[in-house]
Amino acid sequence: MTGCTLWRNARLATLADGWGLVERGAVVAEDGCIRWAGPSRQLPAGLAVTAEHDLGGALLTPGLVDAHTHLIYAGNRAGEFEQRLAGASYAEIARAGGGIRATLDATRAASEEALLAAALRRALALRAGGVTTVEVKSGYGLDLATEARSLRVARRIGAATGQSVVTTFLGAHVTPPEIEGRADDYVEAVCTWLPSLHRAGLVDAVDAWCEEIAFTPAQVRRVFAVARALRLPVKVHAGQFGNQGGAALAAACGALSCDHLEWLSTADIDALRAAGTVAVLLPGAFYSLRETRVPPVAALRAAGVPMAVATDHNPGSSPTLSLPLMLNMACTLFGLTPLEAWLGATVHAAQALGLHDRGRIAPGQRADLAAWDLDHPRELAHRFGDAPCTATWTAP
Ligand code: NIG
Ligand code: FE
Repeated sequence: MTGCTLWRNARLATLADGWGLVERGAVVAEDGCIRWAGPSRQLPAGLAVTAEHDLGGALLTPGLVDAHTHLIYAGNRAGEFEQRLAGASYAEIARAGGGIRATLDATRAASEEALLAAALRRALALRAGGVTTVEVKSGYGLDLATEARSLRVARRIGAATGQSVVTTFLGAHVTPPEIEGRADDYVEAVCTWLPSLHRAGLVDAVDAWCEEIAFTPAQVRRVFAVARALRLPVKVHAGQFGNQGGAALAAACGALSCDHLEWLSTADIDALRAAGTVAVLLPGAFYSLRETRVPPVAALRAAGVPMAVATDHNPGSSPTLSLPLMLNMACTLFGLTPLEAWLGATVHAAQALGLHDRGRIAPGQRADLAAWDLDHPRELAHRFGDAPCTATWTAP
């Protein structure tokens, strides 16, 4: 081996088999790829170590993966929070022209540099909580120019922060006000934008919101047919406020993930399982909207559907920038175990993005790592509002 990076004097939580705890552990990487991990005393001899990190006994884990964010937008919607506290519902505010449409106006008016500056601050806040891979959706432009600008900003985040960024085109978020009431026409436009955004190298995946206040399964299918022709993976926002058939559609289309899922039938769960679709749970939106219907975690667990946990960072329903806080909420509000929550923010989150090269500390995985001032990873799920991440590393 030549030119290795060595992390030593660490307590490892590899997540390779359960917690995968290794006392006095070490990790060796070469060219950004983990070559060896295990107890320091078994470290292979003859390593040409060119960079070394002494963890001083700290906990070393895989870097976290935030599989669902809406990081690119301008403005804020704290006024809607006040309205909701006073009794208005999310759907009522949306129907009255607030919600996503309010963010649309601010985002369309913002320059690429302004959007980037705001998004970078958010990405760095996520990284301070251990996030080394982040999925970033468009969906606050809903015209070709602003969707393209948003996706360009998403691409630029990775170069600026060192995080891996997966871009997702969410043109089918809601129908924009200029063609209010003509959702089919808007879907047609989205279908024509997608190939050009893809040609520009801006799209890694395609998302759509299947909900009464957004799009029907038939409309989402039209967008996904274009995605399939371009060989782009798809994912669905579904089951947040009701069951419009979005989860069944996700499974039928072989979606990487189906996200939210407070409203899910037994048949949906079986279909997700058969399709290998990851259930992405978003406790921040549930909490912030003060919802009461929880996702059917016990049934998902029993069926063996992989569960991920993400921030859903957005200016309306989930203005959080802490994935560790979501681990806590996934346990306290949804009933995940601390280990399930960790797998949900690492290996299952990676799976929700179609990535199989990260989420565990094991040979062949990317050297995306996070160090924590914790004795055991379960402490991160126990604490809230306190995520003592002391360093992150991402493979070049
Ligand atoms: O994931 N569900 C749809 N979209 C976002 C909310 C976006 C917004 O309110 O601005 C979500 O929660
Ligand atoms: Fe979302």
